[in-house]
Amino acid sequence: MKRHGIARRWLVPVAAVAGVAWIGPAAALAQPSDRNIAAGRRLYHQKADCQACHGWSGDGMKMDNQSPDGANLRESSLGREQLVFVIKCGLPGREMPAFDRLAYTDGRCLGRTRRDLDRMGLRLPEPGATLQNREVERLVDFLLAKVVGQGEMNRARCVDFWGEEVDVCNALP
Ligand code: HEC
Repeated sequence: MKRHGIARRWLVPVAAVAGVAWIGPAAALAQPSDRNIAAGRRLYHQKADCQACHGWSGDGMKMDNQSPDGANLRESSLGREQLVFVIKCGLPGREMPAFDRLAYTDGRCLGRTRRDLDRMGLRLPEPGATLQNREVERLVDFLLAKVVGQGEMNRARCVDFWGEEVDVCNALP
């Protein structure tokens, strides 16, 4: 009986320490570094060119008139997992390209293949560039920190978005 008492006294502090160890990485995940966010922003504007369809700030005011109308990502309510999925697998039939090089070649996108999409009559546009998993994670770090659910762009949000005063922010309310 005495041994149980000791075990319990031991388990409590161990659990407390384990709890602390858990909070560490979780907080780190919820709060990506400025460097990761900036890397994601560069991918959004440059390599992946999301802004062609979604606008530089993600509000759906596309940069390229010839491009399809992208969603207003600032009003999106998608979470991390869903954002990763949509970026990797696209939205077949809705002009949102799949940025994973191997999307629809194996089971990774809901088990469907390009042949399945063809058979269902779902068009999937080609992305300008494909992204690695690591790049998708940075992109989502950026989207969650500065775009998704962040509301309409204004001057203060614009300066925060770019991490510095830029000319384009001066035109905003
Ligand atoms: C060729 C145009 C195009 C490009 C490039 C593009 N998108 Fe899209 N995206 C769309 C369209 C069109 C939709 C769907 C609009 C609709 O039907 O609601 C969409 C939808 C989305 C959604 C779903 C939003 C929601 O709440 O449902 C996300 C997230 C998204 N895009 C992120 C991105 C990201 C990140 C990139 C760059 C890696 C990107 N898109 C590049 C056209 C594009």
